[in-house]
Amino acid sequence: MTTITLDGYADVREAFRLRDLKQALYDEGGVVMAGCLLVLHGDDHRVRRRVENRLFRRGTFRHWERAFLHDVVRDTLAPFAAEGHADLVELGYRTIMSLTALVAGIDRPTGSAAEADALYRYAKVFSEGATLVHTTRDPDAVRAEVRAALEEFDAAFLRPSLARRRDLLARHAAGELDERDLPRDVLTGLLRHWDELDIDEEILLRECAFYLQAGSHSTADAFTHSADEFFAWVRRDPAAAEKALDDPALLQRCVHETLRLHPASPVAHRRALAPAVLRGGAEIPEGALVVLDLAAANRDPRVFERPDEFDPLREVPAGVPRWGHAFGGGMHACIGTELAGGVPESVPESDGAEQAHEQVLGTVTLMLSALLAAGARPDPQRPPQRDPHSSRDHFASYPVVFG
Ligand code: HEM
Repeated sequence: MTTITLDGYADVREAFRLRDLKQALYDEGGVVMAGCLLVLHGDDHRVRRRVENRLFRRGTFRHWERAFLHDVVRDTLAPFAAEGHADLVELGYRTIMSLTALVAGIDRPTGSAAEADALYRYAKVFSEGATLVHTTRDPDAVRAEVRAALEEFDAAFLRPSLARRRDLLARHAAGELDERDLPRDVLTGLLRHWDELDIDEEILLRECAFYLQAGSHSTADAFTHSADEFFAWVRRDPAAAEKALDDPALLQRCVHETLRLHPASPVAHRRALAPAVLRGGAEIPEGALVVLDLAAANRDPRVFERPDEFDPLREVPAGVPRWGHAFGGGMHACIGTELAGGVPESVPESDGAEQAHEQVLGTVTLMLSALLAAGARPDPQRPPQRDPHSSRDHFASYPVVFG
């Protein structure tokens, strides 16, 4: 089998947009990924994405950010800050868990810490299952753990959430409930469009499990890396870094620069359904596995000067997002980009003009801002640990102290 690796910014951008390149990273992770949005192709993907996109309309997250995201972040951080220490990996997951559950449509009837912890445990297992291709453990042992976690998650969370939504939809159909009283989440969207989607309850279970892990793992990872990069920036250039403490737009740039340097998905894989030749001359034969090296493309010196340097103040060429390819591109471009990364006040368009936007900071910036405001710094006694079970650039733990 031919493998073509693309590691230039322009090649990766073009490949993301080629219709004949089909998702291939999650074949190993079918136990939790089979039939999920991220592995669908062509019309199947288009129809599912249109249904799920409705929740992610521009403006929804701006409203969430104004209405309650600050409170979620502050309330999750408060007990850790009061104790004087935290692990950023745990704190990141805890904060983001309730938000991804909200997006997916998984109710948390009691809102207790035990519930959040259970979801956190499941999300970690599902995430390991999805990225089985990168595991250093016995893949069958991971699959067995994922199956057990799916069963527990189904019984404890999905079934009650399904029952509540079916009841609400029946009352809506009977004219007893207004449209605005229906939940705006992925699960409700899927139930409302059941007939056109050609799905079953197994796929529904995996789609909710996929959202739970896709939303939480990458956000928690971005949060930990952003804090790590920020702490290193403070050590190198305290005067410059300290300015970001009072400047949310600059802090957002720190997050975007971190995402460029440490994309949660360092590679994307595609299978070529037809031969293709890229503008830069790369030839892709039919059937080839195409490895899109996002981590390398995000450090392409033709696009990012001094590419290995963390420089939130850097200039980027028109049409290039500061996070490079961290949110993917083309048909599978991350549906949660605005929720996690926000929207900068102005975005450079490919024609060089600046398009003005109403700023959304995004959850990662909100989390980093709250963490720094609480006076967090790396725990001098306990250095951060890398994840020994993954070849990816993840922290397994990152202890900090406050004050
Ligand atoms: C910093 C945080 C995040 C990063 C770095 C990230 C990254 C990515 C990337 C690279 C892809 C494309 C993968 C590929 O093409 O193979 C993707 C897709 C996706 N992401 Fe995210 N993501 C983040 C947060 C979120 C959040 C918060 C959600 C939802 C709550 C989410 C939901 C999804 C979904 C549903 C897809 C599949 C889209 C499709 O196939 O059409 N992500 N993400």
